[in-house]
This record gives sequence, structure tokens and C-alpha cells, in this order.
Amino acid sequence: MAKIEIKNIRKDFGDFNAVEKSSFTIEDGEFFMLLGPSGCGKTTTLRMIAGLELPTSGEIYLDGEEISQQPPSKRDIAFVFQMFALYPHLNVRKNLSYPLVSQGMPRSQVKAKIEEVSGILGIKDILNRPVGGLSGGDRQRVALGRAIVRDPKAFMMDEPLGALDAEFREHMSEELRALHDRMNATTVYVTHDQLEAMQMGDKIVVMNNAVVEQFGTPQQIYDTPATMFVADFIGSPSMNFLRFEGALENGATRVDLNGQMLAVPKQLQGASGKLVFGVRPEHVSLSENGDYRGKVLTTEYLGTTQIITLDTPNGELKARIDSAQTATVGENVALNFEAPKITLFDETTGLALRSSLNREVLAHG
Ligand SMILES: Nc1ncnc2c1ncn2[C@@H]1O[C@H](COP(=O)(O)OP(=O)(O)OP(=O)(O)O)[C@@H](O)[C@H]1O
Ligand SMILES: [Mg+2]
Repeated sequence: MAKIEIKNIRKDFGDFNAVEKSSFTIEDGEFFMLLGPSGCGKTTTLRMIAGLELPTSGEIYLDGEEISQQPPSKRDIAFVFQMFALYPHLNVRKNLSYPLVSQGMPRSQVKAKIEEVSGILGIKDILNRPVGGLSGGDRQRVALGRAIVRDPKAFMMDEPLGALDAEFREHMSEELRALHDRMNATTVYVTHDQLEAMQMGDKIVVMNNAVVEQFGTPQQIYDTPATMFVADFIGSPSMNFLRFEGALENGATRVDLNGQMLAVPKQLQGASGKLVFGVRPEHVSLSENGDYRGKVLTTEYLGTTQIITLDTPNGELKARIDSAQTATVGENVALNFEAPKITLFDETTGLALRSSLNREVLAHG
């Protein structure tokens, strides 16, 4: 059992603020992703949870007990590094047994544990090989094995698949997720790859510039992004942003997009000034009676779907449509937006203007 609560943690390195007041909760057994671009503070946050770095302020609780200032050895949290410190001259079995033997575990128990863990990881056939000569993937499995044999309360993984090539990475990420489902150990996983976070995570924290922008399930984050940064970072191609200036009243159901009236989810929150109409490519369709128009600039065939890029009065727009539909470059087409899926933003603050629907989803996040 390991529930981890992060309350207002902050980390400064001298004058530099690496993590700004962050709060989120990792439930017992969750596969939890820390996602964000390079330098946003992911590793620093992970290191604070493991105790490798102490927070400047704020608290961390492990199963209700405050551990913020405890040394790593007291926390019983295993940190899996990308370049895990394995002993290259020792064989796999010795690398795995080392943490157990040094804990004083009896030999028969060590043997059983290694049998179990090497079975889980599929490395039984390489137990007698020196680690130095192993492939990257096998080395990664041994590194994981070394963390698993200790039965820690939780695993911290910092871009564990970062060094692998794309195909193998996908295979390993599936393997990791399956492993987690079998063991059900609380896992905090750092990545800058939004697709990896969406595919693997039960919950995601999206960080940017030392700040937590949003915290929720992959679906909540995809469907109801809290900020323009999150909307842009998650999804490929990203959400389209059509910029306009205007005023929205409380309860408005349409917006005036530079002379074009478009339906939106009912807005409870009024706003005025520089606003942004956010629509994902899959929520734009070609429709003869559509009330918005654009000129097809390019088409990109992706198998079952195609991405078309359009020039519109409010800038470039991408639509993901069925490959069976025809879109000819240079053609002027009518478009339809799926109104319930629209997110409006205030461009100045970057924050989403929440409708009643969105509020409800967030409240249950
Ligand atoms: N010990 C340190 N002393 C000073 N600055 C640091 C230290 N550790 C990290 N930083 C700075 O804090 C910021 C956040 O670093 P962190 O390693 O947490 O980012 P990250 O999100 O893990 O990035 P990446 O994806 O590149 O690994 C960076 O600007 C980094 O240079
Ligand atoms: Mg990092």
C-alpha cells in the first residue's frame, strides 16, 4: 500500500525556482505520469518524492505519514534510473541478488525471489550472462529487476525507455504496463512524450515551466484541457487555435469568430478581449452545409484517416477526416465543428473558459 500526497512542494536551487508550489495525489497502485517538456521540473519532482532532493517548502506524505525531510533509505521507494548503476562485470543473477544479500536475506529466499522476478521480466535465460554484454533492453530489464526484488512501496522511473529505439520502446512500454498490472505497485513515471503518457498512465500531471498545469486522467486532460499549453502539448496533431477578439456573455452558446457565428458548449463564465476558439482536428469535418469555410492547402494520408491543412480567415486549421472522403488541394470547402467538443480560452491568461460540462468533469478529477 502506497498513497503519495504532494502538498505545495517547491524547490529552489539558489535563486532559480525549479518547481513552483505543486500539489497532486498519487493513489495506491496507480501508474502515474509526470509529463512535460525538457527543463520543466519533472526529474526534480521525482527526486523529491524519492528523497534524493529535499523540498525548499511544502510536504510529501507516504500513506499519511509525512516524509518530506526523511532520507531516501527511510522511504522504501525504489528509483529506477535510465542509466541504472549495474555492475557490468557481474552476471545478471549476481546483480539481482546483491540488494537482497546485502539486506541479509537467507540464500534459499534469495534464490526463490530471483526465480520469481526473472520470470516476471522474461530474463531467466540470461541469468548467468555478464551484464556488460547485454543489449539495452535486457539491461533495462535487469535494472528494473534490481528495483523489483526489494519489494519497495513505490517505483520512481525517470524516462526509463529514453535510450531505446522507437520500436523497442513501444514493446518495452507495453511490457512495463503489463508488469505494473500484475504487481499493482504504485509507480511514478517521468516522460516528455505525450503519447507514452496517454497510453500508459492512469493519471497524468502536466508540468510546464516549474508549474503543474493540470492533473487528471488521460481522458480528462485530452477532453477538457485546463490551459492552452496542455491543449497544445497533448494530441497529435495538436488542437487548433483560432484567435478572435470579442465578448462572451454568461450562458452564451455561440461566439462571433470575426463575423462567423459558431456554436460552442454553453459558457457559464463570461469573458472579453483576446479569446481563442480551440478545436481538435478530429472534431472538424467536411460538411456541405457547414457554416465555416477554408481552402485546402495540403493533405496527408495516414491509412484510415487523413490530415488536411486548411487556410481559414482565422489562420491555419488541421482536420482529421476519413480517408474515403475526397479533399482536393486548392479546393474551397465548407466545414463543421463539433460544438460540444470546443474549448474556449482567454489568450491573455492561457486558461480555459469553463462550461458547466467541463466543470463537472474537473470536479470529479
Ligand atoms: N542541482 C541543480 N542545480 C541547479 N539547477 C538545477 C539542478 N537540478 C535541476 N536544475 C534546473 O532545474 C530545472 C528543472 O530541471 P529538471 O531536471 O527537473 O527538468 P526535467 O523536466 O526533468 O527536464 P528533462 O526533460 O530535460 O530531463 C532545469 O532548468 C535545471 O537546469
Ligand atoms: Mg529529467
